[in-house]
Amino acid sequence: MSSGSKLVVTGVTKRFGGLLALNDVSFSVESGEILALIGPNGAGKTTLFNCLTGFLKVDGGTVEFNGQNITNWSPNKICSLGVARTFQVVQVLQGMTVLENVMVGAYLRNPRTAPARESAIAVLEKVGMLQRADVLAVNLTLPEKKRLEVAMSLATQPKVLMLDESMAGLTPTEAAEASQMIRSLRDEGLALIVVEHVMEAIMPIADRVIVLDSGTKIAEGSPEEIVSNPRVISAYLGDKYAKRVIN
Ligand SMILES: Nc1ncnc2c1ncn2[C@@H]1O[C@H](COP(=O)(O)OP(=O)(O)OP(=O)(O)O)[C@@H](O)[C@H]1O
Ligand SMILES: [Mg+2]
Repeated sequence: MSSGSKLVVTGVTKRFGGLLALNDVSFSVESGEILALIGPNGAGKTTLFNCLTGFLKVDGGTVEFNGQNITNWSPNKICSLGVARTFQVVQVLQGMTVLENVMVGAYLRNPRTAPARESAIAVLEKVGMLQRADVLAVNLTLPEKKRLEVAMSLATQPKVLMLDESMAGLTPTEAAEASQMIRSLRDEGLALIVVEHVMEAIMPIADRVIVLDSGTKIAEGSPEEIVSNPRVISAYLGDKYAKRVIN
């Protein structure tokens, strides 16, 4: 059980040439909290994950984890510290089995094979994929691959976990299972940042929501505050959600 972890992001700025992809973004997330990160396509959500996990260098601002400045550390060092993420475009190792993929994550904390295997099996059980352990990743459906990515990240025993559209393409039943899993991770003490376009899936489980639009944080609040925020409705939610909530 992890407890008392906090990720603090202050004034993070990222440019791609002339494009200001992240403009002075600040927020924090801590243990036992689900922070939803929403916003239109191209808003900068994945870029923010890349900046927080060392896959991209920021041009300004700081990222602190439990008081330590981890800005622009390498992805490996950040993951070792306990900050993990999934990828919007799945990155599983296609030619390996489900179990072997999860063991890749588990080796971070268990250099020896037998303990790594045990730890990976425990994670597969937790995410409901144990019966798929021996299937080659290439033969999984896309939703299963996304779930496998969550398992690979969990196997690194993170304190902060960032999920980039892990629920995309799921049936309503599968999305409900995924929501339940995210809730139980929160209840175990993880801090979660969840990027999702399916508002029906994310809003009910979010403790807090931040909204990015063209690289700028335009709102932060409870799900109730966010769905009734005129700026968020006009920038993103529009017909997608607000009307359904009102009706
Ligand atoms: N490596 C890169 N080089 C140049 N431009 C990039 C790069 N990565 C992202 N961008 C641009 O930065 C902006 C933010 O992209 P990003 O992928 O972070 O958006 P997003 O909010 O994750 O969108 P989506 O909801 O579609 O996944 C976009 O304009 C995108 O084209
Ligand atoms: Mg994205």
